[in-house]
Amino acid sequence: MKSTKILAFAFPLMAGGYANAEITNPNILVAYYSLTGKTEKTATAIADATGGTLYKIQVAKDYPTDTKERRKILEKEIEENFMPPLAPMDTNPENYDIIFLGSPVWANHISLPVKSFLAKYNLSGKKVIPFVTHSGGGRGQSFNDVASLCINCIVDMDGWSSWGASTGRGVKKWATQQLADMTK
Ligand SMILES: Cc1cc2nc3c(=O)[nH]c(=O)nc-3n(C[C@H](O)[C@H](O)[C@H](O)COP(=O)(O)O)c2cc1C
Repeated sequence: MKSTKILAFAFPLMAGGYANAEITNPNILVAYYSLTGKTEKTATAIADATGGTLYKIQVAKDYPTDTKERRKILEKEIEENFMPPLAPMDTNPENYDIIFLGSPVWANHISLPVKSFLAKYNLSGKKVIPFVTHSGGGRGQSFNDVASLCINCIVDMDGWSSWGASTGRGVKKWATQQLADMTK
């Protein structure tokens, strides 16, 4: 049984048939934020497996490369739940049916740029499949964050989570299976 979360607001969509309708030839986006490259590797493997379009979420003002300085800024921004402005992109995520959404885990939650992404775009009615990388603390609240911040989305709660990057058969098999389930 697929574990999905459909927000209360989504029920009118279900009544209209969208949420349960089979999607033929879905437009697939693999959107991700990655500070140090691990989530990017996983995103690339998912795009390879699903044929989805890779979409790198970028902040308007890059974080410093100096790790000490960066940590200080990130700690403050996380504390304040700051949503960093994003760089403009040439792809509109709102034009896709299914979105694999990737993030590193930051302080047990999705990263701030992914929060900005979810606030910036109207993904109502989209099927969203989260995936995260972490450094041993697990996925934390990250899938719940996606479910609560993505308004009217149909969120797949069987997301992918790995310690560091995943590029092998496991993640590819998971991605194709989630895609098959989401297009039924
Ligand atoms: C600000 C910050 C907070 C982090 N918090 C966590 C955490 O709560 N749990 C965890 O396991 N790893 C945490 N990490 C480690 C990253 O989630 C992990 O290294 C991830 O794979 C990095 O992905 P990226 O290379 O795509 O940025 C944190 C990293 C940063 C920079």
